[in-house]
Amino acid sequence: MKKIYYLLLFSCLFVFMVSCNNSKKEIFTVDSAKENLEFAIKQYEGMYSSIEDIATYPRNIQKNGETHFVNPEDWTSGFFPGSLWYLFEYSGEEELKEMAENSNAGLETLKTNTGTHDLGFMMYCSYGNGLRLTENSDYKDILVEGAYSLATRFDSIVGCIKSWDWQGPNNNWQYPVIVDNMMNLEFLFWAAKVSGDELFYKIATTHANTTMKNHFRDDYSSYHVVDYDTLTGEARWKGTHQGYADESAWARGQAWGLYGYTMCYRETKDPSYLEQAKNIANYILDHPNLPDDFVLYWDFFAPDIPNTERDASAAAVTASALLELQNYVEEPLKTKFFNSAEKILSSLSSPAYRAEENENNYFILKHSVGHKPGNSEIDTPLNYADYYYIEALKRYIDLSE
Ligand code: GLY
Repeated sequence: MKKIYYLLLFSCLFVFMVSCNNSKKEIFTVDSAKENLEFAIKQYEGMYSSIEDIATYPRNIQKNGETHFVNPEDWTSGFFPGSLWYLFEYSGEEELKEMAENSNAGLETLKTNTGTHDLGFMMYCSYGNGLRLTENSDYKDILVEGAYSLATRFDSIVGCIKSWDWQGPNNNWQYPVIVDNMMNLEFLFWAAKVSGDELFYKIATTHANTTMKNHFRDDYSSYHVVDYDTLTGEARWKGTHQGYADESAWARGQAWGLYGYTMCYRETKDPSYLEQAKNIANYILDHPNLPDDFVLYWDFFAPDIPNTERDASAAAVTASALLELQNYVEEPLKTKFFNSAEKILSSLSSPAYRAEENENNYFILKHSVGHKPGNSEIDTPLNYADYYYIEALKRYIDLSE
């Protein structure tokens, strides 16, 4: 009898120890974040060495297995130098600073580019981080000029910056605005402070207000595209371009909105932006189609769920946004948002999503989706998945220290 008792006791102890060990593995810590950033440095140094023309920027891996390098005019050009700046900030390694400076240099011509709404992504991630970390006054001048170029795309009747100059697949859009454009407002808020020109602040807040009114459904999911009537400023069509369907919820679009309104609250302290960000976060986190590991399917209503692609980029943007948003909210949301961000980081840092050293053409994360309906960039690394993953890791460490 005694023997059985000891055997039972031993078995229970064994099960307890194994489960402790397993749950330990799942806990994400500051040390895990640091290990991932050390890994990111190695990958990005390798990536830098693989670049033949410094004025081209690694964006994704093509179907033939080769890295796709893009020109400065591509909307993603700022993410590679931006990631190098973040890695320099984390490590203090002068070599990374030099790489970031060299990579930035090719983007200077963007300052006069009035043909894209993405100047915030392109210039603020690259020159913005560069200025923050070096106080190089040339960077400041380049940025202010770029912000004026972006401001030319604002129309006061519509109350938004125009996203695209093409008229859409049926050639009938007048003034398309995509939810992604919320991300470019951070550049304008910065320009308002530095230049003293209130126009930038007015444009940024008007754009955010118009988008809040027209892009969101009652459940706080968002349309990808809203097309406006240029004469009346009314929304004339709502739908999608990169999502599954007009009435679906494209994952990265939800993430851009979450990040955008969190940032707008930081810059304005307008409580309506905080409310919007909280509601978007809850939409994402409470959604029945959010997978167990919190790495979003590319669209919340993709028809093949669970047998469809994840979008690591949407997850990385969401994690970074939640780590900021949790600073602005009370319990229980604070813990909910922090724990969810931690869970995303833990998942993205696992072998399921994070590459091995020198693999993945030196990108950090695998498994993102760029434009599924366009049959482009499906289940590939993307430079902006890496950028927001690095940003989120840094935010995670900063919160703990
Ligand atoms: N801004 C384009 C995208 O998120 O794919």
